Amino acid sequence: MFEPHTIIEPFRVKVVEPLPLPTRADRARALEAARYNLFSVRAEDVTIDLMTDSGTSAMSQEQWSAMMRGDESYAGARSFFRFREAVEELTGMKHIIPVHQGRAAEKILFTVVGGAGKAVPANTHFDTTRANVEHSGAEAVDLVIEEGRRPETEHPFKGNIDTEALDAFLTAHRERVPLVVITVTNNSGGGQPVSIDNLRATRAVCDRHGVPLFLDCARFAENAWFIKMREPGQEGRSAREIAHEMFRLADGCWMSSKKDAFCNIGGFLALNDDSIAAECRNMLILTEGFPTYGGLAGRDLEALAVGLREVLDEHYLEYRIRSTAYVWEHLDALGVPLLRPAGGHAVYLDARAFLPHVPPEELPGQTVSVALYLEGGIRSVEIGTVMFGRTRADGRQEPGVMDLVRLAIPRRVYTQSHMDYVCEAVEYVYQRRQRYHGFRISEEARELRHFTCSFEPLDWDPLAG
Ligand code: F0G
Repeated sequence: MFEPHTIIEPFRVKVVEPLPLPTRADRARALEAARYNLFSVRAEDVTIDLMTDSGTSAMSQEQWSAMMRGDESYAGARSFFRFREAVEELTGMKHIIPVHQGRAAEKILFTVVGGAGKAVPANTHFDTTRANVEHSGAEAVDLVIEEGRRPETEHPFKGNIDTEALDAFLTAHRERVPLVVITVTNNSGGGQPVSIDNLRATRAVCDRHGVPLFLDCARFAENAWFIKMREPGQEGRSAREIAHEMFRLADGCWMSSKKDAFCNIGGFLALNDDSIAAECRNMLILTEGFPTYGGLAGRDLEALAVGLREVLDEHYLEYRIRSTAYVWEHLDALGVPLLRPAGGHAVYLDARAFLPHVPPEELPGQTVSVALYLEGGIRSVEIGTVMFGRTRADGRQEPGVMDLVRLAIPRRVYTQSHMDYVCEAVEYVYQRRQRYHGFRISEEARELRHFTCSFEPLDWDPLAG
């Protein structure tokens, strides 16, 4: 019997979008105009856009068809009930609140449960989660396991929270903690999964202290697939069964459906507590919209409902996780320093090891991402000192835990030859790494500075050939 080794894309292409092919000179001009911030570069100047897997997926024919069924009634639209049924079936939660994207759920939830003096422990807060917790006046505390802080260590579930540290934190601060957050997969820690065993243990710790457990579940299906593939005793279960257990272990969750639901926009907040849900709905009306559309069009709710079911297709998940690992293995074989092992939605370059001559205060991740864009037209994102560090009173940078460059892979969008091109460009930049030096931040905002800050090179010309 033919047993192929090649795991093929389980779809074929129906609509195509031309790829921009700017020259190196075009890219140099774009970088200067953007003051070296890749968020300010126009998409039409980017050849392969790996800045994010968020909102960048290709939707399926079923999703596009469902959008035609969108009911745009202000209140009680049919689309809302289809959306609610899909989220209910997946999460089992009692209250389901649509929002326009993940951070809207964070803003609403932490406005309700956060505030000065509060503390929110998590494996690792994503940047918008941390910002929303802190904006409310609360403290965001990351308690990921030790292996999750070290790019070079191998561990199958580097997204796990340190349950002993969580237990100790809750013993000391129980009255300050409104809820515990587990991010699946752990985006800021390298797209690394959380094991079902760790989720069960976290549930037990939360029960002992009487604290609710919430999932930030943007990539829940990728996490479920890793559990099936890597966790002893889980291989016989379906991704759907595992996902159901993940949600049943939690008291609430929020999702940016721009990731594992393949939507270009959308999200939800789902929870069991009646009084918190009532307060969240009031906030929703204030900031997003009426509770049966929450900042989304009826058609978006339809696409979300279809996407949530589609993502648990195991042929898709096998292809998805395999195609990320393909890029990772290719780069690893070239000796490029990577966060180990491959993440679900992205490959993370370890910029500190990539550019050992550029200290963290001089933003090595920024340098690597600028070089990848200049040489290959590839847009990545720095996840390191620019995103998570801060400028001290003396003007020096306080470094982030790691300096990573994320190559996030949009779902169902790029082919294997696009990825081969990416590997070639990374190899080219890696071979010339001695030529690249650091940057300084010349202007920054108080919160989420990475989106808008400006950079200046430190005594070198990044645009030289
Ligand atoms: N939580 C996680 C784990 C995320 O990765 C994101 C977004 C959010 C919350 C916020 O959701 O963007 O819909 O408001 N991550 C994107 C990224 C932006 O590029 O990783 P949002």
